[in-house]
Amino acid sequence: MVSYAAMPPSIDDPPVALNLATADPEARGLYALACELLPWLITIRRDLHQHPELGLEEHRTSATIQRLLDELQIEYVAGMAETGVVGTLPGRPGSRAVALRGDIDGLPLQDGKEVPYRSQIDGRMHACGHDVHTTVLLGAARLLQSVGELPGTVKLLFQPAEETVGGARMLVEEGALDDPPVEAIFGLHVDAGIEVGRVGLRYGQRNASSDDLAITIHGKSGHGAYPSGTVDAIVAAAHVVTALQSVVSRNIDARHASVVTIGTIQGGTQRNIVCNRVEMVGTVRCLDQRTREMTLQRVAEVAEGVAAGLGARAEVQIRPSYDPLVNDDPTVDVVRGCAERLLGAGAIEIVPRANMGVEDFAFYLSKAPGAFYSLGVRNEARGIVHPVHNELFDVDERCLAIGATLQALNALAVLRR
Ligand code: NI
Repeated sequence: MVSYAAMPPSIDDPPVALNLATADPEARGLYALACELLPWLITIRRDLHQHPELGLEEHRTSATIQRLLDELQIEYVAGMAETGVVGTLPGRPGSRAVALRGDIDGLPLQDGKEVPYRSQIDGRMHACGHDVHTTVLLGAARLLQSVGELPGTVKLLFQPAEETVGGARMLVEEGALDDPPVEAIFGLHVDAGIEVGRVGLRYGQRNASSDDLAITIHGKSGHGAYPSGTVDAIVAAAHVVTALQSVVSRNIDARHASVVTIGTIQGGTQRNIVCNRVEMVGTVRCLDQRTREMTLQRVAEVAEGVAAGLGARAEVQIRPSYDPLVNDDPTVDVVRGCAERLLGAGAIEIVPRANMGVEDFAFYLSKAPGAFYSLGVRNEARGIVHPVHNELFDVDERCLAIGATLQALNALAVLRR
């Protein structure tokens, strides 16, 4: 295999060639402009890539976005969701609105790549491609500016903290999708499993919900040699962990996905002391809201009931994290139509199964119909094959022109219908 370090992506590479039999004139025109902008896009992406910041700490990133929007003479509100920036491309007065979203945060990871644009911040890396998402959104904005008067308003959501507290929820709560209310929202995510020049679409359920679980078992301590009269929190915890396995296997309809994982368990101080307190934390994942509610209810009932049966007491705390991401099928059809216009039907992969990972784009979907899809960034010949959250993750940067064009086409398609 070709060593990745030996062949970094080049700023001079030709753009991905389109299937000219399918690309219609508008799609082709926007893509041609995106390809002209590719050096600009790559420069932005590499700058962001070298300066990754964690959720709600994206101060430099936010300032960079604001500077670029200033240069493009695009109005924006900064400081939404703390470090977020919401730009607006105005349409005709009283017209409709659509939103495009790019998340902007990086990860606490050491960049392991040997390329000139590797992260300059120790222990921080754009290993989930949010630098690409930010750049794609700036590119889409510039393409939409080239269209002239827009048939409606386009909101540009530069969203912080996808990886941590869910900046999407904050933006929704702060009204980013209101006034004018958006009719549809589009987001994309880089995917190293899909070749550059291709996209992955998923109808309906796409990502799981997530809930943080904390279970404390309270017992009664005593000498390990005389357990009668004590309540052993470790024995109770062991039964609770075992019984929790029955929630998914016995309570949840086998056709609906649900995961209950206990990730840590801690308790006890010494070999001859009966433990009076065990703490466990875990995560619950589901693909739909009803299964989620049922799973959480049964987790609490089983933990409390099993502990009580053994004379102990379980204290169950559930902290809701992300909602399940369920795409709106007609909006996925919009992406599909635009991807066909640009890349051809042969470049579209229908993702066969939902993913048990989370994505805070879900919060927008509680407010407006939308579609979240995958942008191919893989290039095997160059060794660009590493998955997100890996220290060697990278993208074929030609994806920037494709992502920007697709997002611009998506916005136009909704505003014109
Ligand atoms: Ni991500």
